[in-house]
Amino acid sequence: MAATSTSLFSSHLHFLNSQPFSSTHSFFQSVHSTLSFPPSKPSRGVVAMAGSGKFFVGGNWKCNGTKDSLSKLVSDLNSATLEPDVDVVVAPPFVYIDQVKNSITDRIEISAQNSWVGKGGAFTGEISVEQLKDLGCKWVILGHSERRHIIGENDEFIGKKAAYALSEGLGVIACIGELLQEREAGKTFDVCFQQLKAFADAVSSWDNIVIAYEPVWVIGTGKVATPEQAQEVHAAVRDWLKKNFSVEVASKTRIIYGGSVNASNSAELAKKEDIDGFLVGGASLKGPEFATIINSVTSKKVAA
Ligand code: PGA
Repeated sequence: MAATSTSLFSSHLHFLNSQPFSSTHSFFQSVHSTLSFPPSKPSRGVVAMAGSGKFFVGGNWKCNGTKDSLSKLVSDLNSATLEPDVDVVVAPPFVYIDQVKNSITDRIEISAQNSWVGKGGAFTGEISVEQLKDLGCKWVILGHSERRHIIGENDEFIGKKAAYALSEGLGVIACIGELLQEREAGKTFDVCFQQLKAFADAVSSWDNIVIAYEPVWVIGTGKVATPEQAQEVHAAVRDWLKKNFSVEVASKTRIIYGGSVNASNSAELAKKEDIDGFLVGGASLKGPEFATIINSVTSKKVAA
């Protein structure tokens, strides 16, 4: 036992020595998050699952597709065999939500990729939460890095959007993640915690929020964070929820990973204890590949 603890501790020391930290604050957060969750504790019939929420996989179709190509994608998804213990959501472009909702199996829920910050009205070009609900949407993706860094949405605006969507009964897929230069400057945790805090300051409950950690440097780039890099941030996010809210919130809030997830890397990522699912861009446009990613939940199950 003593030998195990010592070697565990020295591996943490090795980990700590190898990390650049932006400040004493993030250094201690890292020590805490590294040490606070024991590796691989069995939970609800699976291995490597720190949280208690159901595995969640979302397909973010972004600004892609036509009536015809999405009709083919929907038909591929309708005929795929999907593991039952996964929540599956797809986010079509606004203009195809109705078509997709009317043709896709009820097994798959619909998300929007954005929503207006308040009640609809004289807001040219915007789509309201009320309209999304009218079409049968259950979710909305907010804070995606493309909206933060290309469109220029800030933390406060994103927080307000989340609060409004939740107040109207939509679930929120709340995206956070650092830029490459922020990671290289050792600011990964600081950036993620600040983005989380902006959501936390605006909303009154985490009940209908799924957190998507998506490092910006791996989105659409073909680069993927290693399972260890992803796990490190997911554990820190769960620890942040525990410290700032409760053990219960930390356990039940799904923390999903996004950024160049595909059929070849999803199983290894899914094995990590704090990865509760995925938000998938490019690979969600191919039905069979997206189904493989959804079914990577099986790599979490206890071997017989
Ligand atoms: P990607 O996109 O899988 O194409 O990297 C992920 C996302 O932006 O949600």
